[in-house]
Amino acid sequence: MTTIARCIASIPQTRDVSLFHFELPASGRKPEVGQHITMSSLYQGERCEGTYTVIDKKPDGSVTVAVKKTNRNGLADLLHAGARDFQYEGCAGLPLPRHPKMLLLCGGIGVTPALALLRNKRAQYPDSDLHIVLSVETLADLPFLSELMQCHLQDERIRIDVFLTRATLRRQQAPYHQGRLNADALRAICPDLADRSAHIYGSAVFSQAVRAMLREASAAVEREEEQSQRGVVSAGGQGIPHNGQTTLLELMEEARLPVKSRCRIGVCGTCRVQLRAGRVKEEDSILSQSDRDQGIVLACCSIPQGDVAVEFVA
Ligand code: FES
Repeated sequence: MTTIARCIASIPQTRDVSLFHFELPASGRKPEVGQHITMSSLYQGERCEGTYTVIDKKPDGSVTVAVKKTNRNGLADLLHAGARDFQYEGCAGLPLPRHPKMLLLCGGIGVTPALALLRNKRAQYPDSDLHIVLSVETLADLPFLSELMQCHLQDERIRIDVFLTRATLRRQQAPYHQGRLNADALRAICPDLADRSAHIYGSAVFSQAVRAMLREASAAVEREEEQSQRGVVSAGGQGIPHNGQTTLLELMEEARLPVKSRCRIGVCGTCRVQLRAGRVKEEDSILSQSDRDQGIVLACCSIPQGDVAVEFVA
């Protein structure tokens, strides 16, 4: 039984990246687009191995991978040098991530899982909102550029940003950005960062740097959110500063305002107040829709967000 993966064609994409089409052994599990195949070979007596994302699959089971030359005498370089037969070690890998809002951060050839996801989007992720952030040295180093940009322009649920680390742009114009991706730049292009499920694809060095950057960007978003929740509650002629974590009832009691309460858990309705301005975060309460429409809130279940004004209900 053969276990040979045979390269049947190759097509250059950029100066370092080519597409390679493989016939896989007839027996065994066949990989899906987005999964990885692993192959190995002997090079100067040493076994070398390579794992690549499947970006296309034909009905006959043959698959396509994109491989970057490394110049480190590994399997990638054997492929680029024209070797045809490799030991097929099998396929693995989780199916592509699934979340209503995803952020994919890809470095260099790490674009291939994002490409696989885009190619699967219509069939498997029609409602997903994808934001793909690519980091490459120059545009000439970005494989599949026209396909990526077509997706960016034609599907409003797909956004692509490209950071060019070694190119000089005459002007900054989205989706192209000059320089390295950093936490400030990420927050600027991805204001809903906190809502997205983030996935990183690229070298170990790239992944480590991006993980640290994501932590920094997320911490900054949290600080900003905390800041925006702070404010002042205007009630009974007083201005009560708050941190966006305390209920209206507790704040008014601390300020010694004559607020009434009994149950303190949103059941009795004693602490009803009228919200005149601003916004509160409400927990479950007994209020009817008509109360809510009139701006009535329960002080024991309402946490002010920013500046808020309330009046006591007669
Ligand atoms: S004290 Fe009872 S609902 Fe607030």
